Amino acid sequence: MCRKDAIIRGKVYVLGDNVNTDLIIPAKYLNLVPTISEEYAKLGSLALAGLPDSCPRFVAKGLEKTDYPVIVAGRNFGCGSSREHAPIALGAAGARAVVAQSYARIFFRNAITTGELFPLESAERLCDALRTGDEVEINMEASTLVHPASRRVFALKPLGAAAPVIRAGGLFAYARAAGMIHAAPAAEPSGKAEAAVPGDSPASDAAIAASGDRATRIIAVANQKGGVGKTTTVINLAACLARMGSKCLVVDIDPQANATSGIGLRIQQGASLYTALLGSGSIEPLIKKTAWANMDVIPSELDLAGSEVELARLDGYLHKFRAVLHPLARRGIYDFIFVDCPPSLGILTMNGLTAADSLIIPIQCEYYALEGLSVISRLMEQLRDSGANPAIEIEGVLMTMYDGRTKLADQVVEEVRRHFGDRVYSTLIPRNVRLSEAPSHGLPGIDYDARSSGAVAYMRLAKEVLDRARRRQE
Ligand SMILES: Nc1ncnc2c1ncn2[C@@H]1O[C@H](COP(=O)(O)OP(=O)(O)OP(=O)(O)O)[C@@H](O)[C@H]1O
Ligand SMILES: [Mg+2]
Repeated sequence: MCRKDAIIRGKVYVLGDNVNTDLIIPAKYLNLVPTISEEYAKLGSLALAGLPDSCPRFVAKGLEKTDYPVIVAGRNFGCGSSREHAPIALGAAGARAVVAQSYARIFFRNAITTGELFPLESAERLCDALRTGDEVEINMEASTLVHPASRRVFALKPLGAAAPVIRAGGLFAYARAAGMIHAAPAAEPSGKAEAAVPGDSPASDAAIAASGDRATRIIAVANQKGGVGKTTTVINLAACLARMGSKCLVVDIDPQANATSGIGLRIQQGASLYTALLGSGSIEPLIKKTAWANMDVIPSELDLAGSEVELARLDGYLHKFRAVLHPLARRGIYDFIFVDCPPSLGILTMNGLTAADSLIIPIQCEYYALEGLSVISRLMEQLRDSGANPAIEIEGVLMTMYDGRTKLADQVVEEVRRHFGDRVYSTLIPRNVRLSEAPSHGLPGIDYDARSSGAVAYMRLAKEVLDRARRRQE
């Protein structure tokens, strides 16, 4: 199954008008049964196999997955016979969205009920504006498709109520999750993940076995916008607090696993929260030691992406992370647990926010900084109002990648301060190349170059975080 995030980035595959279902998946392959995993994969390898040989292959010979997560087309996409296999084949190949001018009704419906991919509509004729291989970014929250090379932004029609159905993994998964029909039995634990989890270096048994008396604060670092400094903040803030004597745990819930590798851990298949989230056991065996005495990590890896789809099938799927994290927090071993969230408002991020006491929102000092902030503010209100996490609060808003030489940066900071008041940290994190080099060495900024402006800023931020914690206790 494909990931169903709020941001979809990658190459486009461009088609014209009236792409029919026989081009998408020729009738001779309809004997393949999508619920059998090998046949599902085979269907993916055959996606768009009905196109003439003169077209570039959508899935390269010998492969099961495409290089093109986005298909762009003209009018009446998916016309012809009403086969459900059409969206399934595209989804199985790894396509995550089609952006067409219009759809054959049945294809549109099948895409939603199977949850395989987003059938998006554009007012403009994108198949004339883009070429196969162009890189684009679809923002589901903003309903836009951006073509960075030409700096063009195309409006998409919002999917409305269909979007959560697709995110949940289709109509049945959605209905189960919403309690409309009985939930499927909990997924069987995947042996693969369980076997790999203990890994090379679980954190010292002594540290985990002994309970402490620390008042653990769980802080999610989230912003659905990508590349704003979430992971850099998690790594550096945790490292600075650890240096100052606080015991920190970093939990990486982003399948990109940047926090895991940035702290110097090898990314290991199976070593993530996957099985714990699906209800198979405690998370304590997942905790790994790092090179720093006061800092532990629960790592991530790409397979965690699959848990979103699995989670969507379970009752109470927003609380799965909370259910396994809170028993650990109650043991008082850590002062801070930082949760590094993916750049989306998908099920993993929602689990992070439901589990957290508070939220740090990093905001990049750039023109579009405020875009999407209303989304996250609204989301927090929903978490409170729905009872999913009534106590969640904003820990702080952090301005990142600040460049004091530009007037724009100061304007953005001013604007964010007007909006969030004293919840904005007075520390500004400067744009600093040493901070961007450090992760490839598996080091936080203070260990890579303690005197760099970035490392100094994160030390200052750590003091601010501690000050706020003290003030809360007074
Ligand atoms: N203050 C900074 N100065 C310079 N480069 C930075 C700074 N903060 C982050 N970066 C770099 O910017 C990129 C994005 O940062 P980071 O990975 O922390 O963002 P993110 O919000 O976690 O991204 P994603 O949304 O993909 O998870 C990385 O290459 C990082 O090294
Ligand atoms: Mg990140």
